[in-house]
Amino acid sequence: MDRESKIVWNPYTKGYFNDPYQHLKECREKKPIHKGIHDEFVFFKYTDVSKILRSNDYNVSRLNTYFKEKEPYIFKNSDACPYLSKGTQKWVMYLNGNEHKNVRSIIGKSFKEFDLEKIIEESTDTLNEYYKSSSNIDLINYCSYFIFLIVEKLFGIKNFESFEKVKKYSNMLAKSQDLFIPRQIYQEINSWFLWGKDIFHDSKYKENIKFFANQLNLEYSDEDIYSIMSVSVMAAFETSKDNLAIALFEILKDQKLINHVLNSDTKELNLLIEELFRFSSPLQYTIRVSKESIEHDNIVIPAKSKLYLCLASANRDPEIFMNPDKIIPNRDPNDHLAFGGGNHFCLGAQIARQEMRYCLKPMVSFLKKFTIDNTQPAKWTRQIFMRTAGFLPIKLK
Ligand code: HEM
Repeated sequence: MDRESKIVWNPYTKGYFNDPYQHLKECREKKPIHKGIHDEFVFFKYTDVSKILRSNDYNVSRLNTYFKEKEPYIFKNSDACPYLSKGTQKWVMYLNGNEHKNVRSIIGKSFKEFDLEKIIEESTDTLNEYYKSSSNIDLINYCSYFIFLIVEKLFGIKNFESFEKVKKYSNMLAKSQDLFIPRQIYQEINSWFLWGKDIFHDSKYKENIKFFANQLNLEYSDEDIYSIMSVSVMAAFETSKDNLAIALFEILKDQKLINHVLNSDTKELNLLIEELFRFSSPLQYTIRVSKESIEHDNIVIPAKSKLYLCLASANRDPEIFMNPDKIIPNRDPNDHLAFGGGNHFCLGAQIARQEMRYCLKPMVSFLKKFTIDNTQPAKWTRQIFMRTAGFLPIKLK
């Protein structure tokens, strides 16, 4: 047996969650299309991943159908109210065809109605005021609180709901999409879905969703509206906080990068922000399903196969990005895939970009007196599809 055939994609490889990139590099170099034990195909190279993302030969898989089938097993001998399939019924990343088009258009229009610049600036001020006397900071908490302040205003979360609970809610919902989730965790996710039903005001965002759905003559139930609210919070919260935390953690390691941020003009700042999205790739994989049987690079992919597209690996592919493991502030061109591509391209990409544009300088200016606290190890959670930090300690210099 040669070396190539021994490479097995396995996110439980030792050290993967701390640093997935060594393992992904090996997969990309030795076996760039991997067939997994459940007949899924995993793609690691940029050219393959981008081609599939942009092709019309693939659908996305229905998460709520999966839950409908699994719920009798997940809730066997339990008196919990099964809510996983209802909660995810309008999760736009798992819809196809007209249903996808409609929900995407409604969410897209609803986002446009906000003065985001003002919300971000106020949130940055509140955040730095809150942390002004701290000598030790957990960067992931700092970034999560910042995104919470934005999400709270965008989606109208009632102001008595605590930051900690909303953060947990968003994280548990995100976990519902991950691989190899045990039954009791699904039950916990279910109870967070139910908890979240009461956290929203009749906010402007919620009104917009109803208004734009009416415009399309769609009669959405309260469950449908809640499903859209829940996916909006989860999508806006998870990836943004981790992207920002990973970015700040890297910047604080390097005085040159600190200076670069503080002295950058608009163009330089925009280039750096794209590079930080590429580097951190907080959503590490996205999924497509083949509509028909197809041949890809001499490999036959049967109809209805699941394809895991490793965005994180594609974004570190040296065939496209020179020195891929380095942050190169002026990298240009930078056609990274951190926001996916094709019909399902991230709906919040402009929001994520604006968040970074308005917050990065004030945050680095506030945090430049801090350095990485090497006396305590950084911690990463055991999530596969999203790269999620558990603890990123910094301390006063
Ligand atoms: C750094 C921040 C973010 C990153 C890296 C990111 C990344 C992604 C990726 C990779 C996808 C899947 C695309 C695909 O499969 O082709 C996605 C979808 C999506 N994202 Fe984001 N995202 C971010 C922030 C946001 C924010 C702030 C929002 C909302 C305010 C958002 C809302 C969505 C939605 C609704 C979808 C589903 C789109 C669809 O299926 O049509 N994202 N995102």
